[in-house]
Amino acid sequence: MSYRSISCASANSRGNLTIGGCDAVALAKRFGTPLHVIDEDSVRLACRSYVQEFGARYPDVRVVYASKALMVKAIALLVMEEGLSLDVCSGGELYTAISAGCPADHIYFHGNSKTVAEIAFALSVGVFRFVADSLDELYLIDRLARSKNLVANVMLRLTPGIEAHTHDYVKTGQIDSKFGIVIPNGDALRAVGIAKGLGNVRLTGLHCHIGSQVFEMEPFVDAVDIMMDFARQAHEATGFVMEELDIGGGLGIRYNSKDDPITARDLAEAVAPALIDAASRCGLPLPSLLLEPGRSIVGEAGTTLYTVNAVKRIEGVRTYVSVDGGMADNPRVALYQAEYEAALANRMAVRGQEGLDSPASPAGPTNPANPASPASPTSPTSASNPTNPTNPSTSESWEIVSVAGNCCESGDMLVWDVAMPRPEVGDTLAVFCTGAYNYSMASNYNRYPRPAVVLVRDGRADVIVERETYADLAAHDLVPARLRPASARPAAAGAAHRDAGAQSR
Ligand code: LLP
Repeated sequence: MSYRSISCASANSRGNLTIGGCDAVALAKRFGTPLHVIDEDSVRLACRSYVQEFGARYPDVRVVYASKALMVKAIALLVMEEGLSLDVCSGGELYTAISAGCPADHIYFHGNSKTVAEIAFALSVGVFRFVADSLDELYLIDRLARSKNLVANVMLRLTPGIEAHTHDYVKTGQIDSKFGIVIPNGDALRAVGIAKGLGNVRLTGLHCHIGSQVFEMEPFVDAVDIMMDFARQAHEATGFVMEELDIGGGLGIRYNSKDDPITARDLAEAVAPALIDAASRCGLPLPSLLLEPGRSIVGEAGTTLYTVNAVKRIEGVRTYVSVDGGMADNPRVALYQAEYEAALANRMAVRGQEGLDSPASPAGPTNPANPASPASPTSPTSASNPTNPTNPSTSESWEIVSVAGNCCESGDMLVWDVAMPRPEVGDTLAVFCTGAYNYSMASNYNRYPRPAVVLVRDGRADVIVERETYADLAAHDLVPARLRPASARPAAAGAAHRDAGAQSR
C-alpha cells in the first residue's frame, strides 16, 4: 500500500526531503532528533482506502484501527475522524483512548492476559466489545460484569489453524500459539456453548487474526472459510448466531523495494465475495465484517529523522554511520531482522525533483545478521562499482553504508547496506516507513529519552508527543534513605530520624 514510500519521497529546491509539505531538515532543527514524523494525509488515505474499498463490496463493514501500531491521542482521534473504530489491547491503550475523548462505544478490547483491573476499567467505561482470548477470561468478564450488574458484549478470539508466511514472532493463526481458542481440537465449540450459558455475557461474534506483515490474500480467504464453517457448526450445536466476524489485521507494507504488498482493495476484492459465498454456502445470515489494520494504516506514514554523529570507514569491510537513535526508538531490526530504507534528508537533490529513481541492486555487502538478505540500496548506484557508485546526475560520490544505532549493543543496527551520498557528521538521516511499531515499541534502553512525534500536513507541523526529558527518565526512581549521598541527607538529626525508612526521588 505505497501511499508514500521511498519510491515517491520528494525533495524541495534546497535538495531537502519533504514530508507533508514540510522540509525534513527544518523539522529536525526545530524539534531535534531523533524525531518521528507522521504524514497525516498518508494516514487519512490509508483509512479511507479500507473504508471505501470494503464499503463498496460488503454491506456492513467496520474498520477497527489496531492501535498497538501507534497509540497516541492525536492518532486515535484522527483515525476515528476517518470513521474507524479502535482496537486496544491493554489498560494503557484504553486509558489513552478514553482520555483523548474517543467514545467507548467504538472501542474493542483485545489481549490474551487481561487483568481484573483492566476488565473492571473496561466495564466501567463501557467498551463496545471485549475480545475474549480464553475461557478463563470469559468467566472473569462474566463474574465482574455480574458484580456491576452489567451484561458485557463479547467476541471470542479463535485460532483457525492457519500459517501465514511471515516472521515467526508475528504469526498468530497457527494452533501452537498463545493467542485464541483453538478450533480444530473442539475447544472453540465448547467455548461458544459456555459463553451462551453465561448470564452476564452476550456473545456477539467471532474473531481471528492470522498474523502481521502478510503479503498474500489466500490466508485471509482461508480464514473466512474456516470461521464461517465454524459459525455454522456452532449454530447447529448451540443455536449461536454470529452477528459479527472479525478477520483481524495483518496487511503488509512496503518497507523496501523487495516488498510487494497487497492493497486494501486487493483484500476487499478477495474477502468480500468469499464471505458472501461462505455465508450462503453455510446457510447463515451475512455477519458484520470487521477488519483490524494497524501497520497498513500508519506504517508508511512514518519517517524517523536522525543526526549523523560519526562515520567509521573500515576499508574493504564496511562503513558504519552512527546516528543519535537506534534500537531504543526502533527495536524492529534487532527483534525481527526488519529491513528499512534510508536516505540523507539534507542531500536529496541528487535524486531530482521527481523523486527517487528506482532502486538498483548491486552486489554490495550483505547483512551479517541475515546473510540470505541481499543489500537493499534505495538509491541509484553503479552496479559495476557498488562500493563507490556515482550518481549520474551530479557525479557526487555514493557509498554503501550501514546505519548504526547509539545503544551499547552490536545488534543495534537500523539499516544494513544502503546506498547514499558519502555521509558526513551532521547530516540528517531519514529512515522510512517507521510509523508502525516503532514509537509504540520504543524503550528507554541506555536511558535514552523517547523521541518527539510530530504530525505534518500541508506544510504545518504539530507536536503530538513531546520528547521525553532526562527528568522524565528519572521521575519514578526512588532512593532509599540509606543510599542517599551525604550531601543529599537532611542536616538535622531530627529530620534524619523522621526521614528514616523514607525514600526520596
Ligand atoms: N488485530 C490483532 C488481534 C493483532 O494482534 C494485531 C497485531 C493486529 C490486529 C494488527 O496487525 P497489523 O495490521 O498491524 O499487522 N510488533 C510487530 C507486529 C506485532 C503485531 C501484533 N498484532 C512488528 O513490529 O512487526
